Amino acid sequence: ELLGTEKNDYDGITVLVTAGPTVEPIDPVRYITNRSSGKMGFEIAKAAKSRGAKVILISGPTSIEDPVDVETIHVNTALEMYNVVMKFKGKVDVFIGAAAVADYRPAIYEVNKIKKSDDALVLKLVRNPDILYEFGKEKGNTFLVGFAAETENLIESAKAKIIRKNLDLIVANDVLKEGAGFSGDTNIVNIIDKNMNVKEYPLMSKTDVAHVILDEIKNLFIR
Ligand code: CTP
Ligand code: CA
Repeated sequence: ELLGTEKNDYDGITVLVTAGPTVEPIDPVRYITNRSSGKMGFEIAKAAKSRGAKVILISGPTSIEDPVDVETIHVNTALEMYNVVMKFKGKVDVFIGAAAVADYRPAIYEVNKIKKSDDALVLKLVRNPDILYEFGKEKGNTFLVGFAAETENLIESAKAKIIRKNLDLIVANDVLKEGAGFSGDTNIVNIIDKNMNVKEYPLMSKTDVAHVILDEIKNLFIR
C-alpha cells in the first residue's frame, strides 16, 4: 500500500488541530511567546482536508492564510486556546496538538505600559494549563497526537510525554538539527506510538510530514 496517496481515506472523520505559538501579554506593548511559524499545524490541517476529513484548526498568531474549507479559529493566549479546544472534547475523532503553547504567562497583566527604571525588572510567570494533558484525561474515543520539540534526549523525552499526556502518538523533532527548525518548510521527525515503537523519517517537506502523520494515524486508528 502506498502511503498518503488515497484521496478520501479521512471521509467522515473529524480532525481538530492546534497550530502556531501562543502569545502571553505583559502590558499593552509587550508579550512573551514561543518560536513557531505555524506551518506544521497548517500543513496537517490542509492535508487532512484534502483526504476528506472535516477539519477544525485552532491557531495562535501566524502569517499564514486560513486554509480553504477549514473552520479556523484564531486565538492569542494559551488560556484562550485551552478554552476553545475544550469545547471540542468528545466531539472529534482525532486531536493533533501541533501548537507551541507557552508553558507560562505573566502573573499580572499591567494595563499601563511598564516604564523602565535603572533597577532590574523581575517578571513573575505562572503556569498555563497543559491543553493536551487536560484533553487526554478523559479522551474517550478521540485519538490523541502530540508533538515534542526537544533539544536533547529526544526519544526519551518524547516517550515520557506519551505516558504523561495519555497520547496515542507523538511526533518528535530535534529543533537544533539543520532542516528541522521552526521557520523552514522542512522537518526531520521521529514518530512514536503508545507501544513505544519508534519510526525515524528523513528530511522531508512539512507537507510530506503531514501526510506521513495522517498515514500513521490511519493505520493505528481508522479502520
Ligand atoms: N502542549 C499543550 N499545552 C501546553 C504545553 C504543551 O497542549 N501548555 C502540547 C504541545 O502542543 C505539544 C505537546 O504538548 O503537542 C508537547 O509540548 P512540549 O512543549 O514539547 O512539552 P511540555 O509538556 O510543555 O514539556 P516541556 O516544554 O517542559 O518539554
Ligand atoms: Ca512546553
